Order: sequence, then C-alpha cells, then structure tokens
Amino acid sequence: MSNLPFEPVKFIKRAEEYVRATVGKSTAITAVSGGVDSFVAATIAARAVPGQLVIVYVDNGLMRKGETGRVKAAAESVGIKLLVIDAKSEFLGSLAGASEPEKKRKIIGELFIRIFEREAKKCGARFLIQGTIAPDWIESGGLGRDTIKSHHNVGGLPEKMDLALCEPLRELYKHEVRMVGRALRLPEAIYNRQPFPGPALAVRIVGEVSEDKVRIVQDACAIVEDELEKAAAEKKMEIPWQYFAALLPSKTVGVRGDERAYQYTVVVRAVRSLDGMTANFSHVPFEVLQKISTRITNEIRDVGRVVYDVTNKPPGTIELE
Ligand code: XMP
Repeated sequence: MSNLPFEPVKFIKRAEEYVRATVGKSTAITAVSGGVDSFVAATIAARAVPGQLVIVYVDNGLMRKGETGRVKAAAESVGIKLLVIDAKSEFLGSLAGASEPEKKRKIIGELFIRIFEREAKKCGARFLIQGTIAPDWIESGGLGRDTIKSHHNVGGLPEKMDLALCEPLRELYKHEVRMVGRALRLPEAIYNRQPFPGPALAVRIVGEVSEDKVRIVQDACAIVEDELEKAAAEKKMEIPWQYFAALLPSKTVGVRGDERAYQYTVVVRAVRSLDGMTANFSHVPFEVLQKISTRITNEIRDVGRVVYDVTNKPPGTIELE
C-alpha cells in the first residue's frame, strides 16, 4: 500500500474520465450489491456516462435479511434508478450439490456474469462496470501469487464472457473507497457500511447451501449485527470492522427442554481491520457474546451451539470460505 496521501476528489475526476474514455459512445451495465464498493463504482459511472448506463441489483436469495428493501431505498436516496432482477431460484438451483468453497465461488461468479450478459443484450451494453478493489484481485491470485480465494468479481469470472470489464476502483483499498464515497456525498450508512462478500451468504454457509441454511444465517447475522451495534452505541465496545455469523455443516448434541437435541453450530465472527488484508478478532465483552448466544439458540430453531471465532488473519481469513 502506498504511503502517499490519497486525494478522493482528484481520484473521482480521474475515475470519471477513465469510465468515459472506456465506454465511449457505447452503453454499459453495472450492478450494485448494497456494499460500498459497488455503490461507489455505480455512482462514479452514473456521473461519468449518464444516459449510457443500466444499473442492476441481482437478488440472488443469498442476501442479508431485509437487504433488497434497504438497497432499493439507499439507491433511491441518491437518485439511482435500479433494475431489480429476481434470480433467487437460479442461484440456489446452481449451487445445489456444491460444497467446495472455490467451486461455489466459481458458480456464483459465472452466474452473475451470465445474468449481466442477458441484461446487457437487452440494452445493447458492451461494458460491465465493476467495483473491484485491490484486495479482490490480490487474493484471487495470478502472476506468481497463490489463490487465497477467488473473489467472485475476479477469479470467479468465467473464462469466456461477452462483456468487457471497466473497473475504476481497481487500485483502491477499502478505507480509500469509503473516502471516495464520502466525497461523493453518499449517505454515511452506505460509505461506512461494513464489507459484505460478493458471493454473499453462500460463503458464510460452510459446505452445501440450502434455503433452510440461508434462513438460519440470515437470522443469525441479523442478531449479531443488532447486538454488536447496540453494544457499540452503549459504548461497551468499538464497532468492529466486520461482524457476522456463519454456519458450520455438522451438527452437535445438546438438550432442549428435557429432550436430546441434534442441531447446527453458528460461528460468530467480529474483526478489526484497515483493509481486510489482515485482521484481528475483536475483543467483544463476554456479556455481549452471552446475549448473542442466548438469542441465537432461543430464536433460531435448528441451532444448538454458538462459538466465537478467536482467529486472526492470517492464518484465518475473515469469511469462513
Ligand atoms: P477474506 O475472507 O478473504 O475477506 O479475509 C477479505 C474481505 O473481502 C470480503 N470478501 C469478498 N468481497 N467478493 C467481494 O467483493 C468476494 O468474493 C469476497 N470474498 C471475501 C470479505 O467479506 C472481507 O471483507
């Protein structure tokens, strides 16, 4: 990472020029996922080539609870008109039977592209504007680097695609993207949003994905977010850089009432980081962890055990897959 000070206003001007020069007189498609990177990229694209851009949101059925409504509202608040594509059954169907993390990532990366190509055909778009940032391509490997994980928007892309890529944020790290979001006057709830992986909850369900498991992780993530945000507001702790729940594939034995139970384990993960390249697990107060554990096991049938992940990155990555 460079030590030179980053100047967001200068960056925005250059990024807009780059998008304008790349797209020329043709049309482009871009997608917002609700995360800061794609939102910033879409905003820059909308400023650079207004009238030549279609902005889509793909509801892949793997988003956090209530996310589609939140994304639509956030886009409306900054005047971005979204084309919402319901691809829930397509994603769940394609992932059926896949349990290996890289395989899941490739399926998701490819399906996103096929959907974008389908939409691009309808509007005659030749370019796909993506919010890829530096850690995405660094971790996706190549040029002598090992593949840590294929980020859906880089290593997860299919070999053949009909769209040419335009990636204005490619050299930026997350904290710089946030500075750009702020300079673009996006709402703070967007530019300061915790990161969310492109393959969404599929990488927070270790192993095979199913509709039931998605529901469990959605509920567990909502509880973790709710309790940690409350604890931070009450000054019991600093808000972590990223905080969520993940689901392990194996069941363990427990007791519910007087009866034997055989249920899933949820992993609570909260980390401090600057750019996602390295991270330390957050020191969440025990009383907060206890509240999270009680709520998850009380409110989510099928979950009988909650563990807190005390692994730094390295050696762990932030997401479990
Ligand atoms: P890891 O798990 O590799 O994650 O330590 C580092 C940061 O990147 C996010 N992440 C992704 N973001 N596409 C993305 O846009 C992806 O495929 C992807 N995988 C992980 C992760 O949430 C963390 O913030």
